[in-house]
Amino acid sequence: MSALSERPENPVVGVPEPHESAVGHVTGTALYTDDIAARGDALSAWPVQAPHAHALITGMRFEKALQVPGVVRVLTADDVPGINDAGVKNDEPLFPTEVMYYGHPVCWVLGESQEAARLGAAVVEVDYDPLPSLVTVRDAIEAESFQGPQRLTRRGDADAALASAPHVFEGVTEFSGQEHFYLETMASLAYYDEGGTLYVQAGTQHPSETQEIVAHVLGLSNNEVAVQCIRMGGGFGGKEMQPHGLAAIAAIGTKLTGRPVRLRLNRTQDMTITGKRHGFHVSWSVGFSDEGKILGLKATLTADGGWSLDLSEAVLGRALCHLDNAYWIPDIEALGRISKTNKTSQTAFRGFGGPQGVFVIEDIMGRCAPELGIDPAELRRRNFYVAGQDTPYGQPVRHAERMHEIWDQVLENANFTERSTEIAAFNAAHPHAKRALAVTPIKFGISFNVAAFNQAGALVLVYKDGSVLINHGGTEMGQGLHTKMIQVAATALGVPRSAVRLAPTRTDKVPNTSATAASTGADLNGGAVKNACEQIRDRMAGVAATMLRTSPNDVRFSHGEVTALGQHDSVTFNDVAKEAYLQRVQLSASGYYRTEGLHWDSEAWFGSPFKYFAYGAAATEVEVDGFTGAYRIRRVDIVHDVGDSLSPIIDIGQVEGGFVQGMGWLTLEDLRWDSSDGPGRGRLLTQAASTYKLPSFSEMPEEFNVTLYDRAHEDGVVYGSKAVGEPPLMLAFSAREALRQAAASFGPAGATRELASPATPENVFWALQQAAARGVDMPNDAATAPEPSLAGS
Ligand code: MTE
Ligand code: MOS
Repeated sequence: MSALSERPENPVVGVPEPHESAVGHVTGTALYTDDIAARGDALSAWPVQAPHAHALITGMRFEKALQVPGVVRVLTADDVPGINDAGVKNDEPLFPTEVMYYGHPVCWVLGESQEAARLGAAVVEVDYDPLPSLVTVRDAIEAESFQGPQRLTRRGDADAALASAPHVFEGVTEFSGQEHFYLETMASLAYYDEGGTLYVQAGTQHPSETQEIVAHVLGLSNNEVAVQCIRMGGGFGGKEMQPHGLAAIAAIGTKLTGRPVRLRLNRTQDMTITGKRHGFHVSWSVGFSDEGKILGLKATLTADGGWSLDLSEAVLGRALCHLDNAYWIPDIEALGRISKTNKTSQTAFRGFGGPQGVFVIEDIMGRCAPELGIDPAELRRRNFYVAGQDTPYGQPVRHAERMHEIWDQVLENANFTERSTEIAAFNAAHPHAKRALAVTPIKFGISFNVAAFNQAGALVLVYKDGSVLINHGGTEMGQGLHTKMIQVAATALGVPRSAVRLAPTRTDKVPNTSATAASTGADLNGGAVKNACEQIRDRMAGVAATMLRTSPNDVRFSHGEVTALGQHDSVTFNDVAKEAYLQRVQLSASGYYRTEGLHWDSEAWFGSPFKYFAYGAAATEVEVDGFTGAYRIRRVDIVHDVGDSLSPIIDIGQVEGGFVQGMGWLTLEDLRWDSSDGPGRGRLLTQAASTYKLPSFSEMPEEFNVTLYDRAHEDGVVYGSKAVGEPPLMLAFSAREALRQAAASFGPAGATRELASPATPENVFWALQQAAARGVDMPNDAATAPEPSLAGS
């Protein structure tokens, strides 16, 4: 077992602990960026948003705005001292001359109050010269409007495999994006400290990049800007890249006025300005053997990138690397490309392209199983990776056997066989209501695809009284990273959890950090925190050895007691800390961690980009009403692999939350954009909770059983754990597949089972109508029927 993954006796990791801010969250004492901003005399910033999907800006006049009481000034491109760009790809002008999407902010008004700034923004006069726009991916494909490089993942000869396969199907799979709908909208607060450092408190998953962009927009060096993130009310990937430009607006305001400046988007602004999950258009052909083994796959994936690249290349990359999900695809050729459309710039969202890749293969499984005459659960299982196989991009699938074990366990926990029989009986007895139970797997790669990002730092301070303060480079967005880091520090130092406090994430404590993303927060920062604690503990062991008259190697730290092997005497951690100070032994350390063993060639699309895979499976039962398509999620059983959990309550919460968020994307949340030729072309139509349906209490599964996979120690990761943040989102495919199967049950066995996405009650209704209609002229044994084309769902 590696030193990194080995746990001491009685560790604080693994203990079920509530979230470190749980009490603050429910009592309202946990502060968010705008709570802090609201305490001072900060100016407020308000955007002027363009009412065109695509247009040139030909003039702007501010006289009327400046006459509004309380308006202080208007920020434009002329106010940018450094580089007028909010991104890292040089394609995101912070103040545009060309409007790229409906709602694009063209300038910002500063006011003494939000109300003053709002009224000022309403009377700014802007002249536009409208240009033709592309609103849908299909439009963009037709116009060949792409951005960034195209990527090809290839193994073997997919054409030959399809030519010789006994069963070949082809189709188009389309799905749309997802709004992050974090409860806390984008917020930042900028101010100067006495020495001239520009401070920015921001809701950002990537404080170091916020710092860099603020610096480059203001023409400063990084050491003149400090970014802090206390916590976020959800990020979900949406705050990985897109807070930077907004923080820069606040910072410019501070630079020009000398006053603190506060910028907080309201919900509609957040929804219409910031990027979302990428929707995709995918065309595919797949070949199966008579036994239902995938022989070959060809696909073209087109991501809807929106107006600029931001993280689209990386999202597309992860989609291509998850096209296989848990399945062995011997011959494959998949092209990935990013369309450029006149929409918000689509960005990271929990799973980061992984869910989009998995969507394709799970859709293929769900659609083809009845054509092959094989039960969908059985079809999936038959295609699982087995030990010794590699992914299409060349990474060995280590622990492939876990997928099989987890699958068996979830089928057992869910009473799959028994309930399937009961469901068949229910369906036979109920012509207007149908139930279905579906099970789907997930295999998800952990690490950033860019090797350099897989590093982290920490700063740990032990005070003379033995109390401990930790800093690390990761951010807290509700996922419980800080709770885990406290548990890691307490374990590594051998102190009780109560001895450890955590200071907010700041770029002037830990520099050059990576985004808290790709679910790597605990792996990376945990490694760094542990490293820092061990440096201090090793020095303290020397001090304790003299106190206990033993050798440093025989000193043990546990729960605040320091003992020597084979001795009854002990001293307290606090006494050792005090003694260390008196002996002039350093009680602070900066820790560092980098993930070993990763390599990736993005040109050849080949390597081992992931440290390991996280596995899971879910079985979901639904009931669909034949008159309306309305449905209920009756029961969900999940078995998920988090290694040896660092913090079981947190991990179960992540699995539950991830599942429900995935269910929202796949079954409820319906992003609509105006693609008409009217004056609202390109406008996001669903820009509030009234029109954008999120999962809420009423959509929670009626019975929800989450089991963490047992005996799951992951060697080479901090205390044997595995990342949990994103993978469980993809367990929600079981809900979509159950809805597909229930809708199909309204028709004859073996009928084609297409289901448009998201599987809203409306789309489920059309699917069940289609299934019922097919009953009229489809043969019952589709396996022997001529192969229909599945194109055009
Ligand atoms: N959980 C909560 N409550 N809120 C969030 O914003 N973000 C998710 C996931 N779980 C998120 C969350 C995303 S997109 C990622 S990448 C991970 O948490 C990031 O944190 P981690 O690396 O510490 O798991
Ligand atoms: Mo998560 S989408 O990697 O922030």
